[in-house]
Amino acid sequence: MKPIITALFFLLPVFSPVEAQQEAVPSSGCMEACLQLASGFGSFAYFPGNRNLTVWDEKQQEAQSACRVQPTTTEDVSTILHILLDASCRFAVKGGGHARDPDDSVSVGGVTIDMQKMRSIEVSADRSNVKLGSGHVLHSMYVGLENYNLTTLGGRVADVGLGGFALGGGFSALSPMYGLAMDNIFEYELVLPNATVRTINDQTHPDLYFALRGGMNNFGIVTHFTMRAVPQGQMHGGSRIYSVDQREDILEQAYQLTTTWKNDTAMAFYYRFEYDQKADDFIFGMNQEYADPISNPPPFREVNEIPFESSTLRIDWPSNFSVEGILPSGGRNLFATVTYYPSADLDRKMQDILMEEIQPIKNIPGFTPSLVIQPLYEAAIRANSERGGSAAGIEADGPLTGTLISTVY
Ligand SMILES: *[C@@H]1O[C@H](CO)[C@@H](O)[C@H](O)[C@H]1NC(C)=O
Ligand SMILES: *[C@@H]1O[C@H](CO)[C@@H](O)[C@H](O)[C@H]1NC(C)=O
Ligand SMILES: *[C@@H]1O[C@H](CO)[C@@H](O)[C@H](O)[C@H]1NC(C)=O
Ligand SMILES: *[C@@H]1O[C@H](CO)[C@@H](O)[C@H](O)[C@H]1NC(C)=O
Ligand SMILES: *[C@@H]1O[C@H](CO)[C@@H](O)[C@H](O)[C@H]1NC(C)=O
Repeated sequence: MKPIITALFFLLPVFSPVEAQQEAVPSSGCMEACLQLASGFGSFAYFPGNRNLTVWDEKQQEAQSACRVQPTTTEDVSTILHILLDASCRFAVKGGGHARDPDDSVSVGGVTIDMQKMRSIEVSADRSNVKLGSGHVLHSMYVGLENYNLTTLGGRVADVGLGGFALGGGFSALSPMYGLAMDNIFEYELVLPNATVRTINDQTHPDLYFALRGGMNNFGIVTHFTMRAVPQGQMHGGSRIYSVDQREDILEQAYQLTTTWKNDTAMAFYYRFEYDQKADDFIFGMNQEYADPISNPPPFREVNEIPFESSTLRIDWPSNFSVEGILPSGGRNLFATVTYYPSADLDRKMQDILMEEIQPIKNIPGFTPSLVIQPLYEAAIRANSERGGSAAGIEADGPLTGTLISTVY
């Protein structure tokens, strides 16, 4: 208990309501910028405050912007940035709006640049790459590409924005084959901090190109990503829910899938260990992905012998699997991650700690802590180094395990 009290003591001044309110009062510069944006962009693309804005995390939902504007072209983004620079007005860029903290995608007292009208898809003549507007969410991107029987290195959750996903790294069902999303971006269309538009690739701007792959979101505003496209039809996917009694088998199988089965690059998986408040118990959910339309693919045969509570395993389109990954909005979310060499013992130990530590706080309404455990495959690490490495600085030979500690309350 002691560490928690200490942490709260330090956090209190930061989150005090007085401070938050002061921050939310728009500056005169932002009021001026909003007036200009209103006249320049009109009522279909300009919204005072947060009117008609819904985002995933409640902390962001509560943040109040001076106004929100929806560009439709890269030139619009440049114009908006000019206005904001001239007015010295703060801003945030919203792709999917799936980030967790105020100012990540909803500006506190400034202008929210909402990219949702920029969802173009241009497939190259040879079908090897696709230029995507950065306002896509993963679902709109999958659906758009499935019309061409193609896909790209997308993630598991339909309402996550392509922008944040691809700039941060991007774990994908196809990562064992091609690496992370950031390893498969050939070109960025970027509005620089001085509002100038540039095309960034490893020939035009090698340093910026390196920084944009895994260096997150402060190098400018990306308006288009040109990414690898790969043929895709329906695939094997879905998940099974297990009672906590199956823990030893799950731990063992997760370890085997990460290490022994690394040779089968059509396979990807992750599993979660989650507290179910209604049942006052923990459950496991294991998600299977196989790039081909094969039921019960070889790597999952042993896993599929484990008795389960419920299952959504099936052959379907990536877009439909991504819908299954949606977590309802309205919660306040905290994330933290840790990466280590695969170890069933360490996974078990972390689960034990979670079970023990939540006891004093487990009755907080809506409280849903979980550990989401997934491999960073050896082939994905290799793909990264073959592309000259990245700003994410992943340096390891073997597969790694990445664990996300996620808490909703
Ligand atoms: C905003 O929401 C209101 C109420 O739901 C709706 O009537 C209006 O059409 C929406 N406006 C826009 C621009 O989406
Ligand atoms: C996609 O694949 C299906 C099934 O093979 C085929 O009928 C359809 O014509 C393909 N569409 C495109 C755009 O290639
Ligand atoms: C904007 O920044 C880029 C990169 O530093 C520079 O090349 C360009 O001249 C700048 N443009 C203006 C208008 O200052
Ligand atoms: C991959 O490894 C598994 C487990 O060792 C083995 O059963 C399988 O035959 C291997 N597959 C290929 C394609 O090498
Ligand atoms: C996705 O699922 C819906 C039903 O939930 C179905 O109507 C639709 O055809 C599916 N989409 C594809 C591309 O298979």
